[in-house]
Amino acid sequence: MGRCMDCLATEMNEIAFERHGLVQRLLKASVVNPLANYLPPALFRALLRFGKSELAASNWADPGGWRSMVISYDGKPRQIADKILVGAGTIPMALRNRRKLAAKTLAILIDESPSDPVHALCVGAGPGRIIMDAMLQAKREAYATLVDVNTDPFEHGRLQARQEGLDGKVRFIQCDVRDGVGAILDHQPDIVKMVGICEYLLDPEIVEIARAVAAVMPAAAPIVFNSLSDAHGTDRFFRRVFGLHMNHRTPAQLQELMQQAGFDNFDAHPEPLGVYHVIVGRRAAGPTPDPAKGNT
Ligand SMILES: C[S@@+](CC[C@H](N)C(=O)[O-])C[C@H]1O[C@@H](n2cnc3c(N)ncnc32)[C@H](O)[C@@H]1O
Repeated sequence: MGRCMDCLATEMNEIAFERHGLVQRLLKASVVNPLANYLPPALFRALLRFGKSELAASNWADPGGWRSMVISYDGKPRQIADKILVGAGTIPMALRNRRKLAAKTLAILIDESPSDPVHALCVGAGPGRIIMDAMLQAKREAYATLVDVNTDPFEHGRLQARQEGLDGKVRFIQCDVRDGVGAILDHQPDIVKMVGICEYLLDPEIVEIARAVAAVMPAAAPIVFNSLSDAHGTDRFFRRVFGLHMNHRTPAQLQELMQQAGFDNFDAHPEPLGVYHVIVGRRAAGPTPDPAKGNT
């Protein structure tokens, strides 16, 4: 692939990722994960309620929603239960790694874009933490259109943008991307970000959303998304205790779906816990594949 991914490989070495030591890995595999997965879920729910866990409460209200993501990204919860879950849990650690890896990837893509200023479209954006990180790291001028079907995260996102000095550079729009995004855009996107969404969607939903964004992207423009592996070892815990049903896919499986939507030329980068890969694909030349028109 192009120059950008060579840069990323070098710059990744400079990212301060979170990792497990050998003892921590052995303890998790032999003691912590089996207990988390097989003790009665009612016991954990009672403990988390007693400990006023904000991570648990946000997942019970909206499993895997933007609020639980913000708690994990920030990594500085108030309650003791959350300090353990968020500080040492494999998924929250991997989420913070993904935040850093995706932001670095997007910053490099912004700096390499031929457009000026660079326009990023964020799908299922939540409050937009990752694109704001990227815009702060990039040397080039960028602005972002942040689209989410749910307006709840927008107030938090606007506040963050003001605090980060990005006021006026981010625009939040409510939209179900499956209905198309062309009408809400003032300009073609130079980069599309679809991080933190595929693991909550079924295969046909991913293809439908990716096809909708491919329809507004110029040829060769990059899309950034992520896969999720079950390497975290706690899927049973998350399903039973948090009601969180995530879809695990290899980078190859996700790339196959993206290919159906009109993307190719993929490059996947793992974060060091092996839970997430951040993947860059490119809009293939030619019309968007459309089964209705028989041009898939
Ligand atoms: C788990 S949150 C992730 C937020 C953010 N991308 C991040 O990584 O922090 C997923 C978001 O995708 C949004 N979403 C799901 N399906 C969507 C659709 N069809 N169109 C627009 N947004 C969607 C949800 O409302 C939710 O806010």
